[in-house]
Amino acid sequence: MDSPAGRKVLVIGRTGQVAQALGHAGAGMVVNAGRPELDLRDADSLSRAIDRYAPDVVINTAGFTKVDQAESEAAEAEYLNVDGPRALAMACGRVGIPFIHMSTDCVFDGTLARPYRPDDVANPLSTYGRTKWCGEQAVAESLDRHLIVRVSWVFSQYAENFVRTMLRLARTRERVTVVSDQVGFPTHAPALAGGLLAMADAVCMDGFSDWGTYHLAGRAETDRASMARHIFAVSAVHGGACALVDGVLTANYPTPAPRPLNSRLDTALTADVFGIVLPHWETGMTQAVPILLNELGTA
Ligand SMILES: NC(=O)c1ccc[n+]([C@@H]2O[C@H](COP(=O)([O-])OP(=O)(O)OC[C@H]3O[C@@H](n4cnc5c(N)ncnc54)[C@H](OP(=O)(O)O)[C@@H]3O)[C@@H](O)[C@H]2O)c1
Repeated sequence: MDSPAGRKVLVIGRTGQVAQALGHAGAGMVVNAGRPELDLRDADSLSRAIDRYAPDVVINTAGFTKVDQAESEAAEAEYLNVDGPRALAMACGRVGIPFIHMSTDCVFDGTLARPYRPDDVANPLSTYGRTKWCGEQAVAESLDRHLIVRVSWVFSQYAENFVRTMLRLARTRERVTVVSDQVGFPTHAPALAGGLLAMADAVCMDGFSDWGTYHLAGRAETDRASMARHIFAVSAVHGGACALVDGVLTANYPTPAPRPLNSRLDTALTADVFGIVLPHWETGMTQAVPILLNELGTA
């Protein structure tokens, strides 16, 4: 999945989970740009970064990603998830390069009984989902040569994510309560990064014309409580902290932002057009858990 020598990919975001994974997976061809050099609220800083690094393609991983916090900080979420991506798309258009923008399963309401296809109707339940959906439309209106890549349930050794949270909780608790009726496709960030770089490669090829919206996620579905149990099973193998998982229905576990019960993304179009199929999420878990245990000092 390596890019040809000389291809330069500008990744918006430095410390985030996918930003770090892209930086590692694309070492030598990826440049990460983030705050304070670049701020999604400052359109000039976005243009300056594109002029400075002169990339062949831009991947935006940055945004307002705190799903519950977005409910009380809607204006900030709007800046980062709508205005910033629109300004990035316009800046890419100005210099004639393609733009890949990351989005989310949270654009859907989760009521379908099958995995969501890219052209299924969006109906976000939360402010986060609504701003990401508006951001998708802002990008599509601003630049023809774009990909919107929706992803789901991303985890890794990098930044904050569900696996880190579970392992951290297990240090101090014997039991954790986790929702058991939300289903999705967990996605290992390093595998996701490989897929995104392959897409970046494809869009830089002469004659590429399959612009639009795609889904990219790990193989095999699970629910959050089962995912948590799997995390602790892997942790136990490495002598790490474990907790018992009490499953709870979403209806009995209110959060500021509602989540879709069905977060499954149908990735068939991505496989057809790009030939990309990500591995089973459990493969990523065997890599992420021992690294996190080591870092958290619980191994
Ligand atoms: N994590 C998931 O489970 C998940 C699921 C579905 C979709 N997604 C989408 O995937 C993408 C990547 O997610 P992630 O998990 O990597 O997110 P993350 O770990 O929360 O990272 C967020 C990134 O946004 C950047 N950022 C925040 N405010 C900024 C600002 N004002 N200006 C510039 N950058 C700013 C951060 O910047 P700095 O580097 O400067 O700190 C960080 O790199 C996002 O679009 C997210 O919506 C994620």
